[in-house]
Amino acid sequence: MLNVPTQSFPAAGSQQRVAPAGQSGRNKVALKPGHSLMDWIRFAKSGRDHTGLRGRLIEVTEEELKKHGRRDDCWTCIRGMVYNVTPYMDYHPGGEEELMKAAGKDGTELFDQVHRWVNYESMLKECLVGRMAVKPLAVKGTKTHTYSTVNIVVYTKRKIPRSGCATIDLQGGVLRLEALLGNMSYMLHLRLTEEVEGSVEVQTAGSVGKIQLSIPKQAKGKWASVGQPLEFHNSFLRQKDRALHYRDCVLVSKTEVNHNTSVFRLQLGCGSVMHVPVGKHVYLKTQVQDAEVVKPYTPVEQSLIPVVPVDPTHGSDLFLMIKVYPDGLFTPQLDTLHIGDHLMVSGPEGPFSLRPLRDVTHLYLLAAGTGFTPMARLIQLSLQDLGSIKSTKLLLFNRQEKDITWRSQMDELAATDQRFQVEYVLSEPGDGWPGQKGRVEQSMLRDFLSRPEGSRVYVCVCGPSAFTELTEELVRQQGFSQEEVHTFQG
Ligand SMILES: Cc1cc2nc3c(=O)[nH]c(=O)nc-3n(C[C@H](O)[C@H](O)[C@H](O)COP(=O)(O)OP(=O)(O)OC[C@H]3O[C@@H](n4cnc5c(N)ncnc54)[C@H](O)[C@@H]3O)c2cc1C
Ligand code: HEM
Repeated sequence: MLNVPTQSFPAAGSQQRVAPAGQSGRNKVALKPGHSLMDWIRFAKSGRDHTGLRGRLIEVTEEELKKHGRRDDCWTCIRGMVYNVTPYMDYHPGGEEELMKAAGKDGTELFDQVHRWVNYESMLKECLVGRMAVKPLAVKGTKTHTYSTVNIVVYTKRKIPRSGCATIDLQGGVLRLEALLGNMSYMLHLRLTEEVEGSVEVQTAGSVGKIQLSIPKQAKGKWASVGQPLEFHNSFLRQKDRALHYRDCVLVSKTEVNHNTSVFRLQLGCGSVMHVPVGKHVYLKTQVQDAEVVKPYTPVEQSLIPVVPVDPTHGSDLFLMIKVYPDGLFTPQLDTLHIGDHLMVSGPEGPFSLRPLRDVTHLYLLAAGTGFTPMARLIQLSLQDLGSIKSTKLLLFNRQEKDITWRSQMDELAATDQRFQVEYVLSEPGDGWPGQKGRVEQSMLRDFLSRPEGSRVYVCVCGPSAFTELTEELVRQQGFSQEEVHTFQG
């Protein structure tokens, strides 16, 4: 029989308990009257200048932060933001002593150890001093030890994909590197000291987190420094806080996939190197009647079945499978482009992460129409790189048979690799269609999504928003948790 202990709340030794006199540790302290959370909120919003900066936000260096480590002048940094916590001191339920442990330094770790959930951003909004002038994770640059090349090395201090995580642009003597590290982005931005050739060679050592750039110099010789820092050089920000950066690309081929969809192959200039991680998208930008129009697209590989690269120097080419809507805003314009025409493309974006796929054994992909595009690379990745995945199943919804893209390739793959299965569903099937008919519904998913014993499952959904929303709901109704489902959305 289980002994159920008698409950008391807060439990003995709980962090929720007020500390008995003389006892320290992770307990709450008894606050002076008039110092409750509600009192703090009132005080914070009273219109006083809580930072001494009259609302101005500044960039705080580590040296500056260190100067504010006293009880009567106390700044701390939480997740890259610096707050003046001096006025909050008497209101802190953990007490002054605890808060002072983070004085004049980065308090994120201490803060998280005690109460990661505390909503400090809204509590300390009026105490915000500014953003930390972040030092790079670690950058070794300025190595001019060869007379003929500039070598720059970025150490990310964490593993990165073998295929790379950096987008590099070298144009007009300006070097811009942006490395995607989870949802963070590191940027290196320099005006190079002297003239260089237009091309960059990039090498990535994934397991040690090293990105190495080699740029041939125009004139051999030793430089005093690699270059002058430009805007956001050495910054480490959340990717969503960074503005989109576009570079020029050229349409080099267009291959019809069906009656309304083609694969557009875009080539970046020789100074640009970009690898779009699986599941991320890029934005294309062009002028439509004097207005700039931007739309997202998810790169695919050249083909579902691996092909030998035609020209290895064009390793950075992007393949975009795009459906042209005759009455659309952007795609008719794209469709009028000729081979050799230019357009602008952004770096990779999007919240998809491969992390939840670790240890997954059964991957289910539910796609409608061009929602197939993120699935194409996921299929390849699951079969080639993700060893734990024993089964990858795609359920693809289209209107008519002629709308199915890359069907013969998918059938070939399913015939040659038993870990991959594909089923097509048509909403407007022709006579004699042997496959499934209709729109997404519960019984269809019940048959498709299984959860064998001991399996770890993951479901990805992509299509028009109405399809995605409904499908996600149906998948959740089948008992799949939020962590087991990813929906690709705009
Ligand atoms: C993250 C993401 C990734 C994507 N990846 C791809 C991809 O890889 N390939 C791809 O082909 N597409 C992709 N898309 C879709 C793509 O971004 C564009 O939406 C698509 O190309 C249509 O653009 P358009 O400007 O030509 O058409 P739009 O002007 O957007 O029109 C498209 C269709 O919708 C109709 N329409 C427009 N507005 C309305 C309205 N208010 N009510 C009803 N109907 C309307 C139009 O008549 C037309 O038939 C992706 C979208 C997202 C969000
Ligand atoms: C800088 C911003 C901080 C804010 C806004 C803040 C806010 C709070 C709040 C609201 C509580 C009460 C939690 C509850 O009721 O559950 C609390 C408790 C506490 N805080 Fe902080 N805190 C900050 C920093 C820190 C730091 C840096 C430390 C440690 C070094 C710390 C240690 C504690 C402790 C020990 C408690 C009591 C135990 C607990 O409630 O879990 N706090 N803090």
